[in-house]
Amino acid sequence: MKGTRSTTIALAVALAAASGVASAADGDAAAAKEKRSMCIGCHGIPGYRTTFPAVYHVPKLGGQHAGYIVRALQAYKSGERSHPTMQGIAEGLSEQDMADLAAYYAAGGE
Ligand code: HEC
Repeated sequence: MKGTRSTTIALAVALAAASGVASAADGDAAAAKEKRSMCIGCHGIPGYRTTFPAVYHVPKLGGQHAGYIVRALQAYKSGERSHPTMQGIAEGLSEQDMADLAAYYAAGGE
């Protein structure tokens, strides 16, 4: 019984990996659905402007290239691109989080 169970798990993992091939980079757009809860407060609202620490126009992410989004997040994390809010957010993202979010937004997510 134990053997059957681990075979099933291995198969499920293989299928999940295979289905991920279709999305951009190695990101998994479906996995981003939960991660983006920390982005929608700003990026999910068309024409939204943050008021901290000054008034900033928030760029729309949906439809941007996955590679561009990942690069932008890495640049905020490294401090190469500086913006206090996005830097704080990018610091908490792993490479996988960035790839997943980029795949989601590149596919047209809001
Ligand atoms: C508190 C508001 C806020 C939140 C929350 C937020 N962002 Fe941002 N984001 C901004 C602002 C403002 C900018 C523009 C900063 C600049 O001018 O560099 C920005 C810029 C970006 C950019 C660069 C876009 C471009 O066109 O160059 C990316 C990519 C990005 N955010 C991704 C995310 C992701 C992914 C999340 C969630 C993990 C997130 N942001 C959460 C406010 C926010």
